[in-house]
Amino acid sequence: MGRIVLWISPLLWALSTLTTPAAADSGGVIIVVPPVSTDTGIKQIPDAAHPYVAPGPGDQRGPCPGLNTLANHGYLPHNGIASFEQIVNATREGFNMEHDLAGALAGFAMLARGNAFLDLVSIGGTSSLIPVLPGAIDGPNPPGGISKHGRFEGDVSMTRQDAAIGDNVNFQNSLYDELLLYTGRFGDDSPITGNGSIVTTKVMQEFKYARFLEDQVQNKALQYHVGRLTLSYGEAAFVLNFFANGTDGTLSQQTMGSFFRNQTFPANWHRRSTPGSTVGFRPLGMAQGTGTKKEHCGGPVGHLGTWGQRMVHQDERNLNKKYIL
Ligand code: HEM
Repeated sequence: MGRIVLWISPLLWALSTLTTPAAADSGGVIIVVPPVSTDTGIKQIPDAAHPYVAPGPGDQRGPCPGLNTLANHGYLPHNGIASFEQIVNATREGFNMEHDLAGALAGFAMLARGNAFLDLVSIGGTSSLIPVLPGAIDGPNPPGGISKHGRFEGDVSMTRQDAAIGDNVNFQNSLYDELLLYTGRFGDDSPITGNGSIVTTKVMQEFKYARFLEDQVQNKALQYHVGRLTLSYGEAAFVLNFFANGTDGTLSQQTMGSFFRNQTFPANWHRRSTPGSTVGFRPLGMAQGTGTKKEHCGGPVGHLGTWGQRMVHQDERNLNKKYIL
């Protein structure tokens, strides 16, 4: 995840250059970077002002269980159309995501799949509230929202299928069942929630590696270059670091299920007690990438980005040599 900050810092700078009076004069919206908040301690979430309300037919929801949950509880607009500052504020309030990490992700989403001129991005798909960018600089169609495959949404997700072979947006029970299987096999025991019920780094190592091998067989258009690898392992780190109950820092499968299956905060749940940043996640990312399994990285021959050309380990278990760099 540390690399994400490196890529995205220039994007944040680019966002700041968009916030000129000229943009406002011509119908654009000035993007405001919220100040770093001091409200970053442990807290029970949701509060009374943010009960769960199921999404209605017109509401946008997408591949991110964190953002979906925030929208279902009204920390983000319930229609799933959000501004840069709304995302930064909501991810802090709901999950105690650190300011710069939230800004990097929100900025990337806005520039990759939103309309930065209007400071709006959909946490799901295309919306009539988000028109084509001025001058159609990103093509003639309206921005696709974070559900649109490529740029941000990508392959080897945990609970969403690869776009080339299935539903890359909505929660998939069959994939989640696999995650539960790995939790049962490699997770820690708890006297309260049961044996093999605590989701750990080891669970994620084994599960992510298995997902990668599966996708190599199933998805002939697999894209797993360094950028995607970093993001997808970062998402596994998000599960462990943001879904865990802040009271004791552990993540039970029951709590994880509340976020993934129901997209709601569990009962008696507290957000983490310190802001969650990439600094804290870096050791975890390395542990996941270089632990018991060597990780692989690649894309179809002929479609490799510059990131994809600098990589990685291979081992005898790589099933499809076409994807080895
Ligand atoms: C700050 C703004 C955020 C943005 C713009 C964002 C965006 C996204 C996107 C585009 C994906 C899909 C990636 C894929 O193809 O796998 C995703 C997945 C994910 N996000 Fe977020 N996210 C944000 C914050 C969060 C937060 C705060 C959490 C946790 C509390 C979170 C947890 C996850 C998880 C666990 C996945 C993986 C889902 C899966 O693979 O099944 N995200 N996010």
